[in-house]
Amino acid sequence: MSPQPPSVWHGAGRRIHVQEVGLRDGLQMEPVFVPTKDKIALANALSAAGLAKIEVTSFTSPTAIPALRDADIVLREITRRPGTVYSALVPNVRGAERAIEARADELNLVMSASETHNLANLRQTRAQSFGGLAQVVATAQSAGVAVNVSLSCVFGCPMEGEVAPAEVWGWVQRFVDLGVRGVTLCDTTGMAYPTQVHQLTAAARARWPDVDCTLHFHNTRGMGLANVLAAMAAGADRFDAALGGLGGCPYAPGASGNVCSEEVVHALQLMGYDTGVDLLQLTAAAQRLPALVGHGIPSQIAQAGPREALHPVPEGYAALRDRALARGA
Ligand code: COA
Ligand code: ZN
Repeated sequence: MSPQPPSVWHGAGRRIHVQEVGLRDGLQMEPVFVPTKDKIALANALSAAGLAKIEVTSFTSPTAIPALRDADIVLREITRRPGTVYSALVPNVRGAERAIEARADELNLVMSASETHNLANLRQTRAQSFGGLAQVVATAQSAGVAVNVSLSCVFGCPMEGEVAPAEVWGWVQRFVDLGVRGVTLCDTTGMAYPTQVHQLTAAARARWPDVDCTLHFHNTRGMGLANVLAAMAAGADRFDAALGGLGGCPYAPGASGNVCSEEVVHALQLMGYDTGVDLLQLTAAAQRLPALVGHGIPSQIAQAGPREALHPVPEGYAALRDRALARGA
């Protein structure tokens, strides 16, 4: 009899990799330009907090994503912590060359499992994107830099609706055939729900046991953390999350924040998992965001504090207690 997989309800010190995407997925959406020195300071704070991977920026066209036009400087000037992987999104060979030059540990390539979303986001058919990304993979391989492929709209497309799993698996297989060993299944617009997540995660892990599979959820419809747990129940141990719950996609109507890093870390630590992350430092970094982006953030932990953050008893409590006790049982 094969051993039972460990229950998701007992962390028992198991490692879950929390991969920070706020500096990329979050800031790419923001209308304000966060000053370069503040981006670098945030990345350094995230490194110090112990995140397993940080997607630092994206090497896209500065006209397409002006908020990240300082990608080269940011990636070059951050302080690197041994044990953290510094990743960057690249859409094409030009981006790959820039990212490699700036010493990215990993290139994160992106295309959509949905034809409509791919055309809207990347202005290419999926076949054209794949052709271009195959060249990016070759560029990275000859430079000895790791590649991860993020597939958008795996759990549904905001324009097409359902995306057939066979379509998704077809694209994963094409990248695996090129030698890619990291794949992220992205719920770009928060359409995923727990039973679907469990099924697709289990299917991906069974078919590609040697590929590092990351799950990337947005909390658009309030199912983010439930989806993380559903994926963990199917064996997943790598999750993208964004500081403060920032995030979205400029070409995906209605998209909103990623699952929030400090909410994920807070929940998983209470459940006995090891995220390697210092929650207080992470929350302190999140609390710097409103001043940088010019608006509030959806993070419940930044607002409420962790479960252990107790409040003082209200004024007059001693008298209140004495009166109640004086009344007898
Ligand atoms: N880095 C810097 N500049 C780039 C670039 C890169 N990686 N890729 C393209 N450019 C520049 C070109 O040099 C060109 O500049 P010019 O107008 O001064 O000559 C301009 O961008 C347009 O290039 P082109 O090859 O025609 O690309 P495009 O206009 O079809 O844009 C993308 C294609 C994908 C590069 C662009 O739309 C993009 O970067 N999009 C961002 C997608 C994204 O990150 N979405 C969110 C993530 S889900
Ligand atoms: Zn996203």
